[in-house]
Amino acid sequence: MEMKKSFRATVCVAALMVSSASVSFAADEVNIYSYRQPFLIEPLLEAFTKETGIRTNLIFANKGLETRIKAEGEYSPADLLLSTDVGRLQAAAQQGIAQPVVSDTLKANIPAHFRDGDNQWFGLTSRARVVYASKERVEQDSITYEELSDPKWQGRICTRSGQHDYTIGLIASMIVHHGAEETKTWLEGVKANLARRPTGNDRAQVKAVYAGECDIALGNTYYMGKMQTNDKEPEQKQWAESVRILFPNSDGRGTHVNISGMLLTKHAPNRESAVKLMEFLSSEEAQQIYAEGNFEYPVKEGVQPSELVMSWGSFTPDSVELSKIADARKEASELVDIVDFDAGAN
Ligand SMILES: [Fe+2]
Repeated sequence: MEMKKSFRATVCVAALMVSSASVSFAADEVNIYSYRQPFLIEPLLEAFTKETGIRTNLIFANKGLETRIKAEGEYSPADLLLSTDVGRLQAAAQQGIAQPVVSDTLKANIPAHFRDGDNQWFGLTSRARVVYASKERVEQDSITYEELSDPKWQGRICTRSGQHDYTIGLIASMIVHHGAEETKTWLEGVKANLARRPTGNDRAQVKAVYAGECDIALGNTYYMGKMQTNDKEPEQKQWAESVRILFPNSDGRGTHVNISGMLLTKHAPNRESAVKLMEFLSSEEAQQIYAEGNFEYPVKEGVQPSELVMSWGSFTPDSVELSKIADARKEASELVDIVDFDAGAN
């Protein structure tokens, strides 16, 4: 059985991009399948190995990891899946590729609204979906998601596709707070205010504000850090310089946040060591490294984000359970189609 497992593991590794130079699946190792990039995860794994002596193998891919884990079944070498977006984590759990982890450490370190009620997935970092507002053309210093449907923003809003995970998460959070009917009306209003058809990624929307095509854009917080520190494409620093971040609803029900997170696979061959790694990732030390690496927010209370991230201002996050938002995603996606959001304003 062990031989077979190792063989399958080797096949699997060959088919994927592997960041670790030599990959073997001996005892006291943890195998990680990750949608998060190696540059972000490797410093964490190094710290873990230094502290525990447990070695790790990291396999990175842009897509298909859930399918792979499912296909590998009980022979899967994967212990942990690292992913982004609560929708993806919840969907993975619903596919039956996760197993619950009951851990006092995880419970103590990760706030309840950032983990699954059945202990199938756990958040590790959070990011807020905010408004990037033109410094030149937007005077107000606070905003709400609700007011994005106000005609005062007509022809002034840029966003990526309504069907993208990030937008779906935000619309799902509106459904959780206001119900589907009211959210539909709101979405029609936002659509009517779009400066152009939804196109491009989050950074492309900020670029459009910089270029004067729109006055406000929706985007995730960490892109501000990626633009501000971008030496490869220094023009992105100018895009960032043209806007400031407004945290919608921070004075009220809180700003919509999503997570990156982890789950233990159903057939994890190194369960005990993998749980140790999960607990380590929720620790203060790891939370700091992880959140800083991608300009995100630690989920563990009391751990500060980086200085650059703090310079964007503090805010009150929406504390609604993320699993409720995940549950509303299907309805959110349907609304996007019903109002034909991606066609832009008529
Ligand atoms: Fe992103």
